[in-house]
Amino acid sequence: MHPCHDRYHTPSIVVLTGAGVSADSGLATFRGAGGLWEGHRVEQVATPEAWHADPELVWRFYQLRRGALGEVEPNPAHAALARLEATCARQDIEFLLVTQNVDDLHERAGSDPTHMHGELAMLRCERCAHREHNLSDLAPGQFVPCPHCNHDRLRPDIVWFGELPMHMDHIERRLRRATHFLSIGTSGLVYPAAGFLTAARAAGAHTWVNSLDEPDNLHPSDDFHVGRAAVVVPRLVDELLAELEA
Ligand code: OAD
Repeated sequence: MHPCHDRYHTPSIVVLTGAGVSADSGLATFRGAGGLWEGHRVEQVATPEAWHADPELVWRFYQLRRGALGEVEPNPAHAALARLEATCARQDIEFLLVTQNVDDLHERAGSDPTHMHGELAMLRCERCAHREHNLSDLAPGQFVPCPHCNHDRLRPDIVWFGELPMHMDHIERRLRRATHFLSIGTSGLVYPAAGFLTAARAAGAHTWVNSLDEPDNLHPSDDFHVGRAAVVVPRLVDELLAELEA
């Protein structure tokens, strides 16, 4: 008997999303053609060392990405996950949406995601740790000073290479008791997120995977659905909800 059908297991759903879920909204993935880093090497724009060496360059790169948020909309995959979250809330079923994405498309679709790699819409003071939601339209190269300690510039609240992902304790607790796990649009190459599928499987969860090509961490026991998230995810959500009702 599958654990989710076992009346002694309380359902607990964990969803992990990556760049592929936002690809159908028009945001570039990291490793596909078209390379997100826009002509920069990763270490030039996405490391603490880069920020200290050339904050103007790093800030201009993130200004472009913050600006791009205004040009995209959530797609049916984001909407389906928000529907899943709302259904779980109504039925008192534990649900966690973890995203590696720094865009705000899950929020705009109605979800309450846990951003393990930070958010473009958030800024953080490296001196006093003040954090604020800020998507203000700034002149190119214009920094935002800290309103608390007057430090001259807030940094993007983004997990750069060499920094620790956020909310890991909470995520790991949920993975240990997951009964249903969905991995959507992620290549399974970047840890610790790439280990979540294995952890959920080890907890006995039913695991679904959606991507355009087989992710690195795929196992034969995962339910793999190839195709665009905007098409596949609404179907997977229906399948999962049917399994919960069974
Ligand atoms: P990747 O660019 O590594 O992988 C994108 C995945 O999405 C691939 O498996 C594609 O097949 C799939 N994909 C592309 N278009 C899709 C679509 N329309 N529908 C469904 N799947 C699609 O992106 P991530 O796995 O998210 O970290 O990358 C993980 C992390 O690597 C990022 O969060 C970032 C990067 O370094 C940090 O910046 C800390």
